[in-house]
Amino acid sequence: MNITIIGHGYVGLVTACVFAHFGNQVRVLGRTPEKLKKLNAGDPLIYEPGLEEMLQKNLEAKRISFGSDYEVIKDSQIVFIAVGTPPGENGAADLSQVFEVTEKIATHLGDQYTVVACKSTVPVGTNLEIKKILQKKAAQQKFDVASCPEFLREGTGINDTLFPDRVIIGSENKQAAQVLLDLHAPIGGERVVTDLASAELIKYASNSILATKISFANLISFYCEKSGADVEQVLDAVGADNRIGRKFLYPGIGYGGACFPKDVQALAAIGHQLGVNSILLEQVQVINWQAKSNFVDKIIDNFHPPKVTHSGGQGKIAIWGLAFKPNTDDIREAPSRFIIQKLLDQGYELTVYDPEAQGHIKKLFGEQLKYATDPYNAAKEAEALVILTEWDEFKQIDLLKVKKLLKEPVIFDGRNIYELEKMKELGFTYFSVGRKTVK
Ligand code: UGA
Repeated sequence: MNITIIGHGYVGLVTACVFAHFGNQVRVLGRTPEKLKKLNAGDPLIYEPGLEEMLQKNLEAKRISFGSDYEVIKDSQIVFIAVGTPPGENGAADLSQVFEVTEKIATHLGDQYTVVACKSTVPVGTNLEIKKILQKKAAQQKFDVASCPEFLREGTGINDTLFPDRVIIGSENKQAAQVLLDLHAPIGGERVVTDLASAELIKYASNSILATKISFANLISFYCEKSGADVEQVLDAVGADNRIGRKFLYPGIGYGGACFPKDVQALAAIGHQLGVNSILLEQVQVINWQAKSNFVDKIIDNFHPPKVTHSGGQGKIAIWGLAFKPNTDDIREAPSRFIIQKLLDQGYELTVYDPEAQGHIKKLFGEQLKYATDPYNAAKEAEALVILTEWDEFKQIDLLKVKKLLKEPVIFDGRNIYELEKMKELGFTYFSVGRKTVK
């Protein structure tokens, strides 16, 4: 098929590469010439495992190309909208980019039947708005709108797109649904064909229940810290019940990223509009904030540096992990940003390390931080080590070497990556989340 995808962020680019990989002709539209040039040269602009190779293979095979000219739409059977919907006023999704590109699609639809499918996460009713714009401006053209929400996760985006649990298709008629079913034929997973409003809500409901599970896990970790119970054991046993499941039940320093924080907030805003009490979603957000805040308090309360260091600061701390999760360079809503700012406000000297996200943090914090080239360098002479992202390289690190490099063998682990027994054997003072402190 000939497909146009508007937007080349995580969703747009991964989707484009996967559909091109299956032999479709994919044209990706963006608006920034320098970015389009890099994409056409094989640079995905983001770090996502396997994406660069997949992009380059598709470029070599001439199955994918990037541009800004909406003329290509006239030859497309499907046009996907995959632009951002960041939080706007009162937490509601800002739909300006969605409507802006819809206006452009309207003036470029060709003579053939086209399905305009929205992959961006949009509130209930948005696809009907898209349809109204198209009907007004392209009354003569044959088209249908459809909702095709995306469920890929950063860091595992390609695999999630190739092997999803389900493909959701919201449409008002069978023809549009069939075109999308045909396109997804080589992709695994259950098919759910439904109406537009249900498809739109499925996306928000899915992200919000995952975020709710995480906040619940964090809430239980607070109970564990106060009562002496062990959160790993509690949640592992809770999750052993098939009705509950173990996935997304890991406590830590709260969820971040471009999706959960924005979508939980947006679903609460939709609730307000509809007159539905959304207090549950508000509390999910409060607990998420508490998870970060409690962790910072733990560091400040348990860190005993000399009152003032030679440089006038409160002491040296090493930080491992800056991205909002492993295997991505994304720092949008990353807990690290909040934690770093709080520690800087307290006067600590921070040396940070992340295998992928360091450049983005440098743009925000500049010379306020020191940047290490590897985790060992970061740990050198630090009076405590703080772990904020569970990258594999931290899990398998030589902890004895780390202990020798640190000035004090103290670790604050926001992701519970080490066994308590092992840390005791190695002689660390080890603070983690919802577990006993090893001293
Ligand atoms: C999330 C959803 O998982 C995807 O299905 C969805 O498509 C995507 O949002 C989106 O709407 O675009 P993503 O934000 O990439 O994907 O990453 P997740 O793996 O879901 O992690 C989100 C955050 O939750 C991370 O900060 C992670 O550290 C945290 N998390 C996750 C926990 O704190 N505990 C857990 O048990 C799981």
